[in-house]
Amino acid sequence: MKYFIAANWKMNKTIGETRDFLKSFIPMVKELRDVDIVVAPPFTALSAAAEEMKGSNVLLSSQDVFWEEKGAYTGEVAPAMLVDAGCRHVIVGHSERRQYFHEDDQVVNKKIKAVLKAGLGVIFCCGESLEEREGGKTFDVIRREVEQGLAGVDPDNLVVAYEPIWAIGTGKTATVDQAQEVHAFIRNVLSGLYGSRAGEIRILYGGSVTPENVDSLMACKDVNGALVGGASLKPESFVKIVSFKKES
Ligand code: 13P
Repeated sequence: MKYFIAANWKMNKTIGETRDFLKSFIPMVKELRDVDIVVAPPFTALSAAAEEMKGSNVLLSSQDVFWEEKGAYTGEVAPAMLVDAGCRHVIVGHSERRQYFHEDDQVVNKKIKAVLKAGLGVIFCCGESLEEREGGKTFDVIRREVEQGLAGVDPDNLVVAYEPIWAIGTGKTATVDQAQEVHAFIRNVLSGLYGSRAGEIRILYGGSVTPENVDSLMACKDVNGALVGGASLKPESFVKIVSFKKES
């Protein structure tokens, strides 16, 4: 399975900074063929990023979307507008959207369906909080998020990202064993939804991924890529991550 590594820049970078990053990053990764490389800048920088990425092996993603096609929804962006801006993927259900903007599983589900209908790929995020982990609820939370988020969703064009909330931006990465355990569980829940097609769905790990820990995380059987925040903001650092060495 081809690895999939995405940069989620969150609310960082102007248009100029986006262009500068890509002018330096793209030439450094042009020989990499065994990994899908994706960058998700903020909405304001999408078109400029698409121009910079033209003819390269780096793909554009947005960080969010609204589920309606058009109309009186001040401040929102429709899936077809993201296609128009040059996006190939959309991140849906990030824990920061769930936490700060109160997006629940039903909202996430509507967004995923709208994204797929527009012909875009989905990077669907799930993950437990520290409180949920310590309360022994990790698997219940993940099962609920995956089953409800993906209810009625076709798995073509679907990538799943496991992002334990306690590992996001904290420097606390899940251990290789913790990551593999939850990834295997997610694969199992996906098998319940999709049967043998679950084996083809890439499951990314996200949460304090760095050039130092990426090799061991990517060596896990059910880890098929990464969703990277802080360590994707500098070209040299993100280059090292997408050029990870698979440990045997
Ligand atoms: P960090 O890599 O900064 O922990 O962020 C992870 C994340 O939320 C990516 O979507």
